[in-house]
Amino acid sequence: MISTPRHFLELKDVASSELRRIIDMGALFKRGEKLNGAAQPLAGRALAMIFEKPSTRTRVSFEIAMKQLGGSVVVLTPNEMQIGRGETIADTARVLSRYVDAIMMRTTENDKLAELASFAEVPVINGLTDHSHPCQLMADIMTFEEHRGDIGGRRIAWCGDGNNMTRSWIEAAARFGFEMRLACPPELAPPQDAIDWATDQGATIVSTADPDEAVDGADCVVTDTWVSMGDTEADKRHNLLSPYRVDQRLMDRAANDAIFMHCLPAHRDEEVTADVLDGPQSVIWDEAENRLHAQKGILAWCLS
Ligand code: CP
Ligand code: NVA
Repeated sequence: MISTPRHFLELKDVASSELRRIIDMGALFKRGEKLNGAAQPLAGRALAMIFEKPSTRTRVSFEIAMKQLGGSVVVLTPNEMQIGRGETIADTARVLSRYVDAIMMRTTENDKLAELASFAEVPVINGLTDHSHPCQLMADIMTFEEHRGDIGGRRIAWCGDGNNMTRSWIEAAARFGFEMRLACPPELAPPQDAIDWATDQGATIVSTADPDEAVDGADCVVTDTWVSMGDTEADKRHNLLSPYRVDQRLMDRAANDAIFMHCLPAHRDEEVTADVLDGPQSVIWDEAENRLHAQKGILAWCLS
């Protein structure tokens, strides 16, 4: 009997206990400990990474994670592949499955990732789509907990575009049991289907157009670029989003020990002022580092 590969596509598809296990494994690797007695538990395993969009953190952290766990990687871009000449995602999935043990894909539409996963015989990992960015959230949860302890019951505020990161934060709120407060302009509202799903799961999700209301008493303030990869109408976005810039005045409404997070890349004095991004409340470099450790947990989980 062929078993279904253990994909990592959306946080909502993975049980809370499994997500916690992934983070625990990431923390174990970060401490330099062995997994079940193995220092290199992915020895001899290979990961293919398909990038239809640019990347710094995701590309480098997955490659280094795989190598440090004993495995190898192949990095692919569609215009160098037969996908660029019309070979289907389904056929690509079938072929890559004969060579590698897992496939990570960064792409535009979620349907492409879903097609890859449905035809792959090996685990598929979502390396970001227009829809979501679950790998980033695993690093973000790890980072929050390193600085402030268990995220369960805490209050996280999102200010800015209701984008792919927002969806993954909303799903994380349900899976890790924290309150999510969202401040987005009505024209760039957070995904309602994700809010409905998380609310059905028992999560507290507050959606407002007022950044002050969202940030009041928050344990963590998060934002992201105003113009995501593939977005158009940058000027219009800047106009809509400028009231949502995270500055020190806004941070001062949050809890006294609130931290600031950003998945990066950041644009100083656009979505966040330089003094906040580079200031004492910001944990962005730990957050970026934790992509490496959290993804070791994801890889070990997918390939175990
Ligand atoms: N945060 C993040 O995914 O960064 P990259 O686009 O550099 O991979
Ligand atoms: N929302 C951003 C995240 C980058 C990691 C984008 O999709 O471009």
